[in-house]
Amino acid sequence: MSGSAITPWVVGNWKMNPMQADAQKLIQELKQRLADQHISKERCRIGIAPISIALLSVQQQLADASVEVMTVAQDVSRIAGTGAYTGEVSANLLKDSQIDYVLIGHSERREIFADNAQVVAEKVKNALAAGLHIIYCVGESLEQREKGQAEVVVLQQICDIAAVVNADQWHNITVAYEPIWAIGTGKTASPEDAQNMHAKIREGLSQITPAGARMAILYGGSVKPENAVELAACPDINGALVGGASLNAESFYQIAHAFAQTK
Ligand code: 13P
Repeated sequence: MSGSAITPWVVGNWKMNPMQADAQKLIQELKQRLADQHISKERCRIGIAPISIALLSVQQQLADASVEVMTVAQDVSRIAGTGAYTGEVSANLLKDSQIDYVLIGHSERREIFADNAQVVAEKVKNALAAGLHIIYCVGESLEQREKGQAEVVVLQQICDIAAVVNADQWHNITVAYEPIWAIGTGKTASPEDAQNMHAKIREGLSQITPAGARMAILYGGSVKPENAVELAACPDINGALVGGASLNAESFYQIAHAFAQTK
């Protein structure tokens, strides 16, 4: 199956934003936009990853949206279950609150919060065991790219989790390629560079699992309405993980619309 037969995902990663009143307004505007001009979930799956304390209220506000909008946690504890782990939220507790999706391995977690390969693998293992769907983030730094190591770094990040994913769990993983140098910088990987890396990721995944041919591989890093159509036209780019532009309902909608129309 070619990568372009995969239903695209467009997920807004709100990171440590916004204030409550702005979040409510943003959701209202997005719901209104989706009501005005529908995007069916067969054409594009839409998700929002708010701050952890807003997960349930966002989920509630999205419940009456005209199309399903997934509520996605931005992170999860590496500890499973319940217990004396101050400040942590486990995969089981997310699932218990009907939060079914989680980002793992975002470069900001890896770089600022020391989520190394082992920690990331523990999070993946627990999230899958709890029945969550994971958006697993990978990506190289500018230094690694300039040294010609981008592919090796990204494929290693895939390999880092391979040992903890059972053969029947790969369909619960979506990969997001986010070159670190493109995050929040306004610099997007060129569609050619992004497509090349996505093709490598698909090849790597396909060597590990037959599910690799069908897995969505999202691109992240300064995605905006102006570049979404070009990115969406690439066969192995099956959606976007959107930071800054997801804080504006119209921009986020336009990105989802671009993927829904182009794929
Ligand atoms: P920007 O879209 O702000 O570059 O952020 C990308 C990102 O990190 C999404 O997870």
